[in-house]
Amino acid sequence: MLLGGPKRPTISLPDESFNRSPQVNRPTSSVAGSVVQADKNVGFRTEGSHALLPDRAVNRSAVFTAFDASRPINGRSQLFGREKEIKGLLRSVFDFNQHAVIYGARGSGKTSVARVFGDFADQCGSVVLYFPCEPDANFSQLMGALLDGLPKGAVDPLRRAEFARRVEEMPAHFGPLAFVELVADFVVRPVVLILDEFDRITLDQTRTEIAVSMKLLSDNHARIRFVIVGIASSVAQILTGHPSLRRHMSVTRIGRIEPGSVNALMDHGSAAVGLPFSSDARDIVERVSVGSPYHVRLLCRHAALHAISRRSTEVTAADVRSGIVEVLEQWAETNQLDASRFSSIASNIAIRSLAEEVAREAAKFDIFKPTPETLDAVARLGDSIELAEGEQGSYAFVDSLAPQFLIASIASTEEQEDHIKRQRRALEN
Ligand SMILES: Nc1ncnc2c1ncn2[C@@H]1O[C@H](COP(=O)(O)OP(=O)(O)O)[C@@H](O)[C@H]1O
Ligand SMILES: [Mg+2]
Repeated sequence: MLLGGPKRPTISLPDESFNRSPQVNRPTSSVAGSVVQADKNVGFRTEGSHALLPDRAVNRSAVFTAFDASRPINGRSQLFGREKEIKGLLRSVFDFNQHAVIYGARGSGKTSVARVFGDFADQCGSVVLYFPCEPDANFSQLMGALLDGLPKGAVDPLRRAEFARRVEEMPAHFGPLAFVELVADFVVRPVVLILDEFDRITLDQTRTEIAVSMKLLSDNHARIRFVIVGIASSVAQILTGHPSLRRHMSVTRIGRIEPGSVNALMDHGSAAVGLPFSSDARDIVERVSVGSPYHVRLLCRHAALHAISRRSTEVTAADVRSGIVEVLEQWAETNQLDASRFSSIASNIAIRSLAEEVAREAAKFDIFKPTPETLDAVARLGDSIELAEGEQGSYAFVDSLAPQFLIASIASTEEQEDHIKRQRRALEN
């Protein structure tokens, strides 16, 4: 407990904490946001395979849990391939006392990284508060929620009553200066405020006031650090609008995970479900997902369910292909125009490999630059792509999760064509 005044937290980096039980200073209350607490399943999973139990009863609900692609992960043991990002965030927030920005495309894994970072920060002795931003939130509402959610232990023990009174007396609308003066004076324990979905905030004034308060917090050596989580454009906005903030802030991009981590994710899920994935099956998942954990989980879930329904003890390439067909059908329901466009590109033998090249670049870097060779394929992407903001001559898919669905569509069409060829050959013989 940090009742004796400010104390710098001991940082335990992910690898160091692998086999240690966390020392958690648990905050006791949270009002508007949720207080993040340490996950006891310490350690990352990055490489190596788990012993598979072929005779284990296969459970469909275990598949949904192991390959849940609809919610951010809720424990560090489920986060794959993000050690560099987590270590970097811990270093900048705790060693360099900086604020942090986590940015990336939708579905790239920002919230998952932010939550696991919060988990480690909690283990380091910080109070961690997590808020998803509401579109029309104003500064006073957001910071008022923080003030209400602060556990008592974060405040100078000799002045808690005074702090409570000052919070009570805050006007309905207050600005960055009043907020920073209050917390810089009274908050003695490190506090990390995670503001997720920052890009949803519609009011420019709210963003500006948050940026101003970040600068003031740093200038006043306050104990509160902000972690802003959002898509690239919202981050660019905050940095270009407030250049003086740059030296007080670290920026972490959430891109794709490495093939070793994709395989580790599959190993982990496959061990939980009790079904191994064949190497051909893994190759297809790797090809289509291009290192996106969301797509890995989505494809593996459908493939594993197929394997279960045919009572197989292994997930094969055929299961992944059947899974892809389903995944594409479901995606088409919400994205019909892209889906029919992708399907016609996939049927065009002359351009599909160039289209896959483009999709692969977009999947890896969120943006791509057409080359003279890929120009024709790019032209066929029509409204599925748009000029990338602030990146001259580059494009991005309007739906940031779409490039993998284009590759899925191509892989699926190729397989159907091969299947027809095989059938013809069989009939001829
Ligand atoms: N590093 C990771 N390892 C395993 N699964 C991940 C990872 N990152 C994201 N996911 C999965 O991908 C999906 C999208 O992640 P999320 O954190 O919600 O993305 P974002 O906040 O960028 O939209 C979730 O289902 C999550 O479980
Ligand atoms: Mg998110």
